[in-house]
Amino acid sequence: MEARLLVVVCRLVLEFLLQAESTRVELVPEKIAGFWKEVAVASDQNLVLKAQRRVEGLFLTFSGRNVTVKAVYNSSGSCMTERSVGSERDAAGEFAFPGNREIHVMDTDYERYTILKLSVLWQGTNFHVLKYFTRSLENEDEPGFWRFREMTADQGLYMLARHGRCAELLKEGLV
Ligand SMILES: *[C@@H]1O[C@H](CO)[C@@H](O)[C@H](O)[C@H]1NC(C)=O
Ligand SMILES: *[C@@H]1O[C@H](CO)[C@@H](O)[C@H](O)[C@H]1NC(C)=O
Repeated sequence: MEARLLVVVCRLVLEFLLQAESTRVELVPEKIAGFWKEVAVASDQNLVLKAQRRVEGLFLTFSGRNVTVKAVYNSSGSCMTERSVGSERDAAGEFAFPGNREIHVMDTDYERYTILKLSVLWQGTNFHVLKYFTRSLENEDEPGFWRFREMTADQGLYMLARHGRCAELLKEGLV
């Protein structure tokens, strides 16, 4: 009787492990290369939301284990860009940047949306922000946004301007 129960328990555990294995998606960071429009930002640290420069879009370029992030933002009417180069950690989808900054790819379907977690260690405190991006300038892709809200349900949120011209210029390669 006890032996049979043990077999049943073992089978359940095994099934659980196999299921967990099959739902774990192998991330291919290079596939998120290219343009992304920043649509929404969430953080449980209010300070982070307030201090954020309102980035409108990113262009990611991969080279070996390096990633170059070109960010565009509207600075008193002109579109400014800022570049930084990070390198991939041992864990896929985690990139370290100068100045104790990190980017972690949380979720993506490569083609429509990406959710990134940005962290910075500043004066002994770790600050985090989750950002939701879409490939498209117009279509904010509801299913991806729903996943973003699931991850950030208990956090402060702000949505970015719908028609930032700077994102458009970055997408077109004009900045
Ligand atoms: C990655 O970045 C480092 C530091 O910026 C640089 O020395 C190295 O050549 C880069 N590697 C590639 C493959 O781009
Ligand atoms: C930048 O923002 C200002 C308002 O702050 C706006 O009037 C202007 O059109 C924006 N520039 C671009 C290129 O989006």
